[in-house]
Amino acid sequence: MDFSIKACDWTKGLPKGSTKGTPKGASTGSPAAFLTGKSDCIVLGVFEAQTLTGAALEIDTATKGLITRVVKAGDMQGKSGTTLFLPEVSGIGASRVLLVGLGKQDAFGQKAYGDAVRAAWRALLGTKIVQVTFTLAQAPVKGRTADWAVRAAIVALRGETYQFTQMKSKPEPVQHALKRVVFSVDAADEKAAKAAAKEGVALANGMDLARDLGNLPGNVCTPTHLAHTAKKLAKDWKLKVEVLGTKQLEALKMGSLLSVTRGSAQPPQFIVMQYQGAGAKAAPVVLVGKGITFDSGGISLKPGEGMDEMKYDMCGAASVFGTLRAAAELGLKLNVVGIVPACENMPSGTATKPGDIVTSMSGQTIEVLNTDAEGRLVLCDALTYAERFKPAAVVDIATLTGACIIALGHHMSGLFSKDDALAGELLDASREASDPAWRMPIEDEYQEQLKSNFADVANIGGRPAGSVTAACFLSRFTEAYPWAHLDIAGTAWKSGAAKGSTGRPVPLLLQFLIDRAAQ
Ligand code: BES
Ligand code: MN
Ligand code: ZN
Repeated sequence: MDFSIKACDWTKGLPKGSTKGTPKGASTGSPAAFLTGKSDCIVLGVFEAQTLTGAALEIDTATKGLITRVVKAGDMQGKSGTTLFLPEVSGIGASRVLLVGLGKQDAFGQKAYGDAVRAAWRALLGTKIVQVTFTLAQAPVKGRTADWAVRAAIVALRGETYQFTQMKSKPEPVQHALKRVVFSVDAADEKAAKAAAKEGVALANGMDLARDLGNLPGNVCTPTHLAHTAKKLAKDWKLKVEVLGTKQLEALKMGSLLSVTRGSAQPPQFIVMQYQGAGAKAAPVVLVGKGITFDSGGISLKPGEGMDEMKYDMCGAASVFGTLRAAAELGLKLNVVGIVPACENMPSGTATKPGDIVTSMSGQTIEVLNTDAEGRLVLCDALTYAERFKPAAVVDIATLTGACIIALGHHMSGLFSKDDALAGELLDASREASDPAWRMPIEDEYQEQLKSNFADVANIGGRPAGSVTAACFLSRFTEAYPWAHLDIAGTAWKSGAAKGSTGRPVPLLLQFLIDRAAQ
């Protein structure tokens, strides 16, 4: 898919110097001719009030009132998410117009824009249209800029066209024809929009990588497969990569992580990737992703129903891969370290048993009361390992608790941090990227639930506030740096008919890094 930006102030006419771009044969001088000369279709927004503005008004004039007549007839009432193709349009270069309902103008915010954009892409992808001129990013989205709108539209389109066919013996051929999108923006927004288009593509590439890794089954996406992926990523994007195996983890005294992998036939892989976009001395942001490639629960075996979805228990790791890829593609000027503790959680004669006590790399002893609370057991050692990078900040990302889904459902990731500044940055990034997160408590009062009669700490805190006690457990290993934890159990994948990985929270994490790099 090819994306480009063209400046066109519809109401003020052509930007200076742009007449050069007027296609041959098109009636010159008008914005309508300038922008539609080479496309199969132009996408125009219509608000419920049905007063045409901007591009729609201009195209209406060029087509001798066609849009007005369609709207008057009631065929397009501007209702949010509705679309209407007008075929065989004459008077402009494009042969078709796609009208898209934008809803009520005073309610036209981020959500309404997203709905309209997705409806437009869906309509277009169902046709043979190859090239399209897209004007919706010029509509005034409340609290958002045109470059934001361009980026959001690209990410939405790439989300609509994403397919996971690797595991089919005969993959269905790609159905749509769409190849090229030209975004029309006001001349004043052109520069920012071009940068935003690059960001959108890099973000979508990162999300696709995260989605692919998430969707792969556990027998293919093993810890070893994640290690191979890291090495390939490092080669393609000039990252430093190091993979530690069992022996090295033993030498590091990662007794907690090793207790999780004990029941598995697959060897653990502790993956460390480094992207250097700033000076060698600049303190890095460290991203730590839970990489349980299958979580059976171990001896505390999970119920059978829906257990297949525990192949997604490495989505935190996948988001670290995707974010690093995107950061490298954009050449962000900061240093980022990605740490992925990868292993399986399986039952067997060698598996860790409930009641076993293990010693973490930090020296703290942990009573494993439930072997299904394994994410925190691999993360705690990875968080201790992170200290050696003297990080500016550490963010861990994990499909950590079912309790987080009970608390927040599937829209918002849970954000836990004692550091208000870091939490604020991540929440800002989540809003900007439309990848929402909600701040949860992590007060010391909850630590009491993790009391163990036999070890320093227990690995579970009972049913009340399960996602909070999980975060409190992790906090005990993060005293050395500013730290935040994202519980993505509810947001990393979808169940049901649309079962599949979402690529979240790559948008949030990338935005966080973009904002940090700009500081
Ligand atoms: N990977 C799961 C969390 C999970 C469950 C994510 C369901 C998405 C959907 C995690 O390892 C786990 O099993 N957590 C337990 C913790 C409990 C034993 C304290 C849970 O949430 O039930
Ligand atoms: Mn588990
Ligand atoms: Zn798990």
